[in-house]
Amino acid sequence: MTFRYGPHADPVLAGFDLDVPAGDHLVIVGASGIGKSTLAALIAGVLRPQAGTVRVGGLPVAGASPAALADRRVLIPQEAYVFTGTVRENLTYLCPDLPDAAIDRAAARLGLAALLARLGGLDAHVRPVDLSAGERQQVALLRAWLSPAPLVILDEATCHLDPAAEARLEEAFADRPGTLVVVAHRVSSALRARRVLLLDGHTALLDSHPGLLARSAAYRELVGYGEQGATPVRSTPTPGRSAPLRAGSALPSSP
Ligand SMILES: Nc1ncnc2c1ncn2[C@@H]1O[C@H](COP(=O)(O)OP(=O)(O)O)[C@@H](O)[C@H]1O
Ligand SMILES: [Mg+2]
Repeated sequence: MTFRYGPHADPVLAGFDLDVPAGDHLVIVGASGIGKSTLAALIAGVLRPQAGTVRVGGLPVAGASPAALADRRVLIPQEAYVFTGTVRENLTYLCPDLPDAAIDRAAARLGLAALLARLGGLDAHVRPVDLSAGERQQVALLRAWLSPAPLVILDEATCHLDPAAEARLEEAFADRPGTLVVVAHRVSSALRARRVLLLDGHTALLDSHPGLLARSAAYRELVGYGEQGATPVRSTPTPGRSAPLRAGSALPSSP
């Protein structure tokens, strides 16, 4: 497929071809502004390519009804939204009539039972402004978990959470039956992936994390060569937080 935002804009993706098999755990990495969110939105059918076709579970997403799309995929963007209503409404609008016991089980599975208690339980009313960005993300993640969609797309959907919470949630989603596509906010996400897609503006490389380390200088730079990618990229001096993925930032050069 080929996609550009405007008729005279450079394409974000040109002649791009990707097959994500059912059950895959794919992590997308690349510099800020390279096209990761655009790709996530194209997969989800939120954006339409000018050329080519996106299919999810065999269904072309262009022209699919919102209900048909919701049955197949759920996309959590970087700034997750919560709407004014009860906690239950916020969690179950992709799967109405879900019994409370199922919500509670899922919350426990994701380590979010304490969050639900803090919000006042399933009957409590919430307004978006009452929640922190991290709390909104956790509500959205639980909502995605409960949705019937076999494909979950997380676009830096854990960026307001600490690395431990991010790891716990990503590992849970990797266990969820179906397919997981994660736009990475931290290098550690790539270490958990079955496959990693590197977008660098000219090419797209698809391989395992060790495979990309061996093949791609751009990837080594992105993850910090010499650290085996085990430590987060050290480019943002925010204490206690892993830095986001960002190519071209000051990284230790290879030994
Ligand atoms: N709504 C939009 N309108 C026009 N250009 C956009 C829009 N969203 C993103 N872009 C541009 O498309 C490119 C890819 O953006 P994006 O997919 O958000 O990158 P990433 O998620 O990798 O940071 C960037 O150059 C960005 O400025
Ligand atoms: Mg993005």
